[in-house]
Amino acid sequence: LSDLDKIETDFLVIGSGIAGLFSALNLAEKGEVTLLTKEEPKDCNTEYAQGGIAAVISEDDTPELHYRDTLDAGDGLCNPYAVKILVNEGSQRIKELFELGVDFDREGDKVALTKEGAHSCRRILHAGGDATGTEIRSSLFEKVLNKSQIKVENGIFVIDLLTEDDRCHGALAYDNQQGEYVAYLAKAVVLATGGAGQLYQETSNPEVATGDGIALAYRAGVEVMDLEFVQFHPTTLQLNGIPNFLISEAVRGEGAVLRDQSGDRFMPKYHELAELAPRDVVARAIYQEMEKNNIGYVYLDVTGLETEFIKRRFPTIYQTCLERGINITKDFIPVSPAAHYFMGGIKTNTNGETNLLGLFACGETASLGVHGANRLASNSLLDGLVYGKRVAKKAIEYMIDLKLDFKKLKINNNNQQLIDKPLSAVKEKLQLLMMENVGIIRNKNGLNQTMNEIKELINYLNIDIEDIRYIEVQNLINLAYLVVKASLIRKESRGAHYREDYPETKQKWQKHIVLQKDKEWEG
Ligand code: SIN
Repeated sequence: LSDLDKIETDFLVIGSGIAGLFSALNLAEKGEVTLLTKEEPKDCNTEYAQGGIAAVISEDDTPELHYRDTLDAGDGLCNPYAVKILVNEGSQRIKELFELGVDFDREGDKVALTKEGAHSCRRILHAGGDATGTEIRSSLFEKVLNKSQIKVENGIFVIDLLTEDDRCHGALAYDNQQGEYVAYLAKAVVLATGGAGQLYQETSNPEVATGDGIALAYRAGVEVMDLEFVQFHPTTLQLNGIPNFLISEAVRGEGAVLRDQSGDRFMPKYHELAELAPRDVVARAIYQEMEKNNIGYVYLDVTGLETEFIKRRFPTIYQTCLERGINITKDFIPVSPAAHYFMGGIKTNTNGETNLLGLFACGETASLGVHGANRLASNSLLDGLVYGKRVAKKAIEYMIDLKLDFKKLKINNNNQQLIDKPLSAVKEKLQLLMMENVGIIRNKNGLNQTMNEIKELINYLNIDIEDIRYIEVQNLINLAYLVVKASLIRKESRGAHYREDYPETKQKWQKHIVLQKDKEWEG
């Protein structure tokens, strides 16, 4: 460590989605912030968020209604206190987004609001029609760039946390442009590294979503929670050889319906809310229809909506489908579910604190029970915003009393053997296994088979090699191990975790599974 370049900062924020950017802006009020992104700042799940951000701003809505909807979708596993904070603080945070220049869509002199699955009223703000994430991210990033207290560094791959005396003091990283390792020494570290859709062969997430933050926290002895709950978005464009492109739930919110191969609607027979049932219900129904017909997609029918409305309200979806040969004003869209969002992650309290002093987490990479077993649509951006701010407040308090000694630091990566398989083959194999055995429907045999294969793969990886992508695959393997382990432990079906060998939801499993290196517990 003594030979490494060292960069000192007050706060190290890792990740450039809504949670990372918003916490950086708030941290910058009290100290120097270094914000790291693995590739370009726009490479994050926030950029891809289409439908919107849920918040109580309509006169017809109340925090109590939003709270109820979130708890109902969460299928008995939400932390009510965390949800209360989300719905109560949400509208104030949205005001701050307006002040920061986010240009939400309007209808006349009012903010336009849409509906999505399992919401009891219209409460979802959107921007650019279906480009909400892009608008929020670019507005926040512009403010970040204008803050002299924040230094943004792109192309920095964080490898492991630096810890000593049960405290986190920073992170070891690899600078891709300079081709060298760097130690970032910080008084507090905020992980906002997003999700891990890349664990699956089919995902709505970008290439960067490899669960790095969760994996490196786990390696440092940090508790992780609820990892068996992986949300599959019901509707992504399904065309052979083309990555799954998200078709927003807001499309169904505005009246689109799902149809089987014969053109018949099928959702009414699965749930009283039909196409607007909770996401886990819709994804499972589509999966069952696909299995029944032995075909890899169902149809989303938007043709009942006015052509001009479709083009104005969903310009990105309209244009992207058109470029792929589908005119959604006339043609049905072939869709299938794809891995979309991790309800689980690094266990935190409602201030973003983890069990490791000096380490904080927020956004998709954190888990505090705010989404339970199944996240309510459009609550994820709100989570990043509300908890991004709370993390900043707590990290500032922590930093103020800290006496820091950077002298003795420890690195937590113990893998020693060299990989002997081509990297892409390992990643593809893992993604396929996870899709087949740890996706929408799971069972003991498939989970055990996957666990055995993961244990084989885990032994191959080493950090001490030129291609930094090995670390990413190592993180995916670490995370796959945790998702499978938690899925084997939970012997029931709840929310996004469906075990065909244990199809019932059981009272005794109304608890969280927490995993920690060399330990596991339920609480
Ligand atoms: C969507 O637009 O359907 C995605 C929104 C979300 O994941 O909450």
